Amino acid sequence: MHRICLDAFDDVEGWRTHARRLAQAGVPPEAVLWQVGDAPGDLFGGEPQALPPATGRPLTVPKPFITLAEQALLHSDPQRFALLYALLVKIAANPALLGDHADPLLRRVESMASTVRRDIHKMHAFLRFREVQEGGVEEERRPRFIAWYEPEHYILRANASFFVDRFAAMRWSILTPQGTLHWDGETLTEGPPARREEAPKGDPVEAAWQTYYSAIFNPARLMTGAMLKEMPRKYWKNMPETALVPGMIADARRRELAMVAQAPQAPRITRHTLPQDPAAALRLLREEAAGCRRCGLCGPATQTVFGEGPADAGIMVVGEQPGDQEDRAGRPFIGPAGALFDRALAQAGVPRDRLYVTNAVKHFKFEQRGKQRLHARPNVGEIDACRWWLDQERAILRPRLVIAMGKTALRALTGQNLSIGREAGQEIMLADGTPCRLTVHPSHLLRLPSQAEAEQGFERYVADLRGGLAGLEEPLRS
Ligand code: URA
Repeated sequence: MHRICLDAFDDVEGWRTHARRLAQAGVPPEAVLWQVGDAPGDLFGGEPQALPPATGRPLTVPKPFITLAEQALLHSDPQRFALLYALLVKIAANPALLGDHADPLLRRVESMASTVRRDIHKMHAFLRFREVQEGGVEEERRPRFIAWYEPEHYILRANASFFVDRFAAMRWSILTPQGTLHWDGETLTEGPPARREEAPKGDPVEAAWQTYYSAIFNPARLMTGAMLKEMPRKYWKNMPETALVPGMIADARRRELAMVAQAPQAPRITRHTLPQDPAAALRLLREEAAGCRRCGLCGPATQTVFGEGPADAGIMVVGEQPGDQEDRAGRPFIGPAGALFDRALAQAGVPRDRLYVTNAVKHFKFEQRGKQRLHARPNVGEIDACRWWLDQERAILRPRLVIAMGKTALRALTGQNLSIGREAGQEIMLADGTPCRLTVHPSHLLRLPSQAEAEQGFERYVADLRGGLAGLEEPLRS
């Protein structure tokens, strides 16, 4: 029995070194005992056995396996090192296994990796710093921010660079039961595990933040089930704004009714009035959207152009707004941009009828020039008003991947004005943890000045679409 002692619960590098050497020497998974630290972990303890000598035998595994392993190894499951080694041995012998999602071991590891990704995202979203003023010499009296957080998995170190990048100019400490991180504006240091009592509670910033949060809270958008799913109660205690949530939920119905009374033409649909069956829920939503008056675009447009595609599509594609032809036909992406989109999908090998295709804004915005209706870009108010429908479509479909085509789609999905530019082909994570692949809008390609640029742009667009689909385990649900 080989007893492998790793340095830390998140010692991915150590696992990698040992796993490679063991696999190259042909050591079977059942002959390896993995543990953290060097105290004999169980009955089979004994002295750690030296690694088998390097054989120099090549060991190659597909790159996606490495990414999968790096994530799954941060899971708190005590079996994680053994499971990943067993999977490594299987995949080294048969790389095609990585595409076999019926394989129970692969499925288990993929599920662990996805749980870890979610935990990482939750830490980004729910960690809250509190300001503490420290005494000492003048230059030391800069404020310091401290956060207490309890991750479920071993993600503290993996998240360090995120917090350093985001709060580079602050002095902060993150205290967790796994360990602590301290940033002084220049250097990151690690410390031992902390206890909750060591973190401060409440500060003046907190009161302002609570006021802000209760002001932006929109009772008509309250989805208690989704809220609890995305922001489980256990995170509430560390977040100042969530102290207000129970009261706001209790008051939500009264405030919702008041809002509806003030805007009698606003559709009154809420997620809890929708049927459970996604196809039925989408049908109902489409009917509601047909009468939408959330912004002024409904006046000049012919009709609402709602999303189209199966309710169980794993992938949702979001464009900007319908064009002239879409407005007349009531279907998304059937005009010139749609033709290019279809051509790109065909080249990427993706049948369109298995995607859910929708737009950020559901009415055509245009300027009338003589007989022509010229496309006009929707403004932020229109995008944000229409976001209601997109959010509902996402809540019903729960896609595993969203593809954002262009800046308007990205604004509608993130609430932020970001351009796609060089980010095309990249993936970001939306606030609810859904991966979102960025690409250009097909109309952009139609406007490129030269044939050569158009061809090059088209190739990149196809690659963006194809790349997004390749990253999924089952690219398309049938
Ligand atoms: N452009 C879009 O963004 N959507 C359409 O439906 C058509 C063109």
